[in-house]
Amino acid sequence: MSILITGGRGKIARAVHAGLVAQGRDVRVASREPGDRLGAIALNPADPVSLATALDGITQVFLYADPATAELFVEAAETAGVKQVVLLSSLSAQADSGNGSEDLAGDPHIGAERVIAGGAYATTRLQPGTFMSNAIFWSYQLRASGQIRLPYLDAEEAPIHEQDIADVALKVLLDGPGGAHDGAVYPMTGPESMTRRHQLGLITEVTGVPVEVVELTPDQAFEEMSSTMRDPARLALLMAYWASRVGSPHPLEQTVELVTGHPARTFTQWLHDNPTVYSN
Ligand SMILES: NC(=O)c1ccc[n+]([C@@H]2O[C@H](COP(=O)([O-])OP(=O)(O)OC[C@H]3O[C@@H](n4cnc5c(N)ncnc54)[C@H](OP(=O)(O)O)[C@@H]3O)[C@@H](O)[C@H]2O)c1
Repeated sequence: MSILITGGRGKIARAVHAGLVAQGRDVRVASREPGDRLGAIALNPADPVSLATALDGITQVFLYADPATAELFVEAAETAGVKQVVLLSSLSAQADSGNGSEDLAGDPHIGAERVIAGGAYATTRLQPGTFMSNAIFWSYQLRASGQIRLPYLDAEEAPIHEQDIADVALKVLLDGPGGAHDGAVYPMTGPESMTRRHQLGLITEVTGVPVEVVELTPDQAFEEMSSTMRDPARLALLMAYWASRVGSPHPLEQTVELVTGHPARTFTQWLHDNPTVYSN
């Protein structure tokens, strides 16, 4: 079977690619901006011709969720004879199932899930919560100002290591369609609930790099974050979500261990795995 990986520049896509290559699988990587990445093809997910080219001869797909182009994808995938789609969605899509574990109704992942899961192939939905790799964005602030400035420092999250998301995707792709993963929805978190304040403390504890932590008021956060997050509605949802998590430990999901057989990695492990993010 030939496997297409979309979102080729993304952290999860790169980890899935490396894992499939290590298993000797036939893989095609697609990106909206492949640049000079060896072997990656250009894919404009809004263009049916580009989609048809990327999907030619493909039987399995690792897909980044995009509601705007989901219908075009389904059409192209059905025409190409795709048998399995592993969709990178979000725990926020759980709001659609009434679970309410992340109350972000209106989240774009919900729309993408509904359309993609309707295709004539086996679908597995991966629903990770907050990525540990968001700490990379904090490091940019730290390098620029010596500070990390965030609202709701006492909000609890259970961040997940990107390699754990990739490991679940790999297991599903390597097992292939026709088994227990067909139609499965896999909510995923890291192994522990922790406040953002604790997460920031671990950065100094593990790397030795001093961090001046500044807690922003919601108004300050709106002002500072709207330059990087341009959709005000999405930012408002995120702020409301963080507010709701203050003093509320995040429910933990066992998916990583159940699917891969290994425990989910800790944030301390993530800091060791990414030594150049905070230290030069
Ligand atoms: N960060 C979090 O805490 C978090 C939590 C839960 C879910 N998610 C979801 O996971 C996905 C990736 O998150 P990330 O950016 O933090 O990690 P990432 O793995 O680094 O992903 C970035 C990549 O996403 C791909 N992408 C973005 N929009 C796309 C689109 N409309 N169609 C196709 N590919 C698209 C791009 O690939 P190319 O440009 O190479 O095509 C980009 O390089 C997003 O859907 C995000 O909403 C993130």
